[in-house]
Amino acid sequence: MRLNISPTLEGLPTIHTNELNDLQGNLKDLTVGNYKRLKASLSDNGFIVPLFVWFDRDGSAYTLDGNQRLRVIKTEIPDGINLPYVEVSAENKQDAKKKILLISSQYGQVTKDGFDEFSVDIDDIEVFIDELTTFAQWVDPVINEDEKKRAIDEIEPAKVDSIEDFDPSRKNQIVCIDCLLALSKMKDNSVDIVVTSPPYNLGGNRHNSADKTGIDTYEDSMSLETYFGFIDKVIRELMRVSTYHVFFNIQEAANSKGIIKYIQDTFAAQLKDTFIWAKTNPSPPLQEHLPAMGFEYIFCFSKDSPDTRVFSYCDFNQREKGKSGVSNTLIYPVAKGFGGHGYTFDQWLPDFFIKNFSKPGALVLDSFMGTGTTAISCIENNRYYIGFEKLPNVAALAQKRVLDYIENGGEHS
Ligand SMILES: C[S@@+](CC[C@H](N)C(=O)[O-])C[C@H]1O[C@@H](n2cnc3c(N)ncnc32)[C@H](O)[C@@H]1O
Repeated sequence: MRLNISPTLEGLPTIHTNELNDLQGNLKDLTVGNYKRLKASLSDNGFIVPLFVWFDRDGSAYTLDGNQRLRVIKTEIPDGINLPYVEVSAENKQDAKKKILLISSQYGQVTKDGFDEFSVDIDDIEVFIDELTTFAQWVDPVINEDEKKRAIDEIEPAKVDSIEDFDPSRKNQIVCIDCLLALSKMKDNSVDIVVTSPPYNLGGNRHNSADKTGIDTYEDSMSLETYFGFIDKVIRELMRVSTYHVFFNIQEAANSKGIIKYIQDTFAAQLKDTFIWAKTNPSPPLQEHLPAMGFEYIFCFSKDSPDTRVFSYCDFNQREKGKSGVSNTLIYPVAKGFGGHGYTFDQWLPDFFIKNFSKPGALVLDSFMGTGTTAISCIENNRYYIGFEKLPNVAALAQKRVLDYIENGGEHS
């Protein structure tokens, strides 16, 4: 990256980027998209506002602002560059942290330790370290060719078609396998959250009713008893292997009547909340006198105090958004489908649950991975994924989608 320094900053002292330390501990990660936007903006506009720097008694330099700009510059220009700065005086680190409030107008409370957005309690140290590490993980596939190759290599080829080849401890893999078989090999509490949507038992063959795309179909017409038994086993297994929450998107159809009540009754103790997805573009009714399928359920089963609707494991960032919670009425579109697969998540769905109800670095399972929408959300949001898909050419489609996404530096295909 070439970085022009604005002529208006001429005359200010400069400091080499590699000499600058970070004072703000708990910085939010940038998404891949925002990283790219910030990088593009810096390339287009140059460096137009100075850094604010505090020097401690030993002469070590700390930036009080501009940390995200600095992260991009340090990553893009590893040899470093001299940047203009304005010195801010402070008695000590805590005093310097207080000055951040004056410089950046960020919301926060000044505490005896400094500033609560930036102070790190020893209890939080693991989260803090995790966040710093995960920053590198998402940023590398975009900007570093070696790391990018390694990230791609880390993804298991799709066609793992025997249970012997499945390694449950491996992150970032989509496995072509029946989910119940795969789940039986997984340890208790081995993933953080689940985001998934099972087949709905709509009747007939699914994915590609016109059979134009070469996508396999699966028979989606079990008997009611078999379907209820299947869903029951899947939910129990998902609860067993997850540490926190299971988000289970399902709809009742003519062929699955009673499934919603069955789930609500059977899993009442684990049911923490129910999200209603009201579709902005429901499919029109297939025939006259039929209501459109205008809404679906997303059940949240949880081990995180299921008797309350308070989420202790979440990442709402509400202070940032100025709200006190998230809505459980989700008014969003239906996906267009992907690669001939007609029953896919729209990207908003895994994004909403993954961003709000897991933390960076979390391991997310989708037991019905389909075309890999959940995997894309994990990469985009700096989480790990593991997914099962029983149809070989759908699993291959998902794998290719993930590889294309990484190779395109985070662009959706
Ligand atoms: C509703 S779709 C999920 C689509 C996915 N959310 C996406 O964004 O593409 C359900 C998927 O589960 C797969 N499937 C059906 N039964 C399965 C099983 N027993 N194990 C694993 N996958 C299964 C189907 O082939 C289908 O791709």
